[in-house]
Amino acid sequence: MKEQLHALQSEALGLIAEAGDIPTLEGLRVRFLGKKGELTAILKQMGQLDPNQRPVIGQLANAVSAEITEAIQMRREVLEAADLDQRLRAEQLDVTIPGTAQVIGKRHPMMKTLDEALDIFIGMGFTVAEGPEIEFAANVFDKLNTAEGHPSRDWQDTFYFDQADKHVLRTHTSSVQIRVMENQTPPIRVVSPGRVYRKDEVDATHSPMFHQIEGLVVDKGITMADLKGTLNALVQELYGAGTKTRFRPHHFPFTEPSCEVDCQCFKCSGAGCSMCKGEGWIELLGAGMVHPNVFRNCGIDPDEYTGFAFGVGLERMTMMRFNISDLRLIFENDLRFLRQF
Ligand code: PHE
Repeated sequence: MKEQLHALQSEALGLIAEAGDIPTLEGLRVRFLGKKGELTAILKQMGQLDPNQRPVIGQLANAVSAEITEAIQMRREVLEAADLDQRLRAEQLDVTIPGTAQVIGKRHPMMKTLDEALDIFIGMGFTVAEGPEIEFAANVFDKLNTAEGHPSRDWQDTFYFDQADKHVLRTHTSSVQIRVMENQTPPIRVVSPGRVYRKDEVDATHSPMFHQIEGLVVDKGITMADLKGTLNALVQELYGAGTKTRFRPHHFPFTEPSCEVDCQCFKCSGAGCSMCKGEGWIELLGAGMVHPNVFRNCGIDPDEYTGFAFGVGLERMTMMRFNISDLRLIFENDLRFLRQF
């Protein structure tokens, strides 16, 4: 009987493994394990056994039965999975399957500020010009009237690429203005947004990488009045009608005269508060009339044309626009912070 049971087991397991569908599997279950099945038939002969053999055979029969049951169950799972798979492929659209939620993103606050600023400039007739972040030192410095030896070329605050100092990570987007002037004849009216790099330590107001928008206007008869009008219009649009500006004399090598522009603190309207550190004014940007040497370096005749340029830090604009107190928050990409805007 032992041999019979072993033979039954191996036959059953072989057939189960080959069963190609659920009905076949069900047929095998009835054939081997059913009331009139082959296992029962064998067990019916138990009576002929030596009494001390009965428990041994009984145990073996139970083990065989359990193994066949388990094999059927496992085969059933495989067949059912294949079945589902096939049905999914056949019924292309199953409206009962739960959908995948769409996670909707948000604009980064700095990109919002940039879009707003570009809208304002485009509304004033500017076009957008872009240039490479890895620039010729000539475009970042020399042609902008900052010859060899000028402090702003210092290794201290500049990322150079080669010993010959030929290529740098641009320290401002004024380099784009050089490219525009070399390739376009006036009238020119462009803004150039983009990343710039300086060897600054990270703190609440500094980062070795930040963004600027610089503007350039070149035409016949452009004066400082045009510069003031344009920047005043920008400030009114950004921070509300009636926001006052203040132009202070300053020095940039590539503009003459040069100025820095402050706007009246939009939080305290000039009374003095924590935002403006009690000053009543917040520094906004640098600007000036394009230096004649810069024109000459780009093949534009300074006796025929004049122009103005300005450069504004996008992070600072964003911090003012959204009342953000720490520059680092802008770059950390912490969603808990970014979702607020
Ligand atoms: N390039 C200057 C800076 O990065 C900003 C500037 C641009 C000043 C144009 C004047 C004119 O600080």
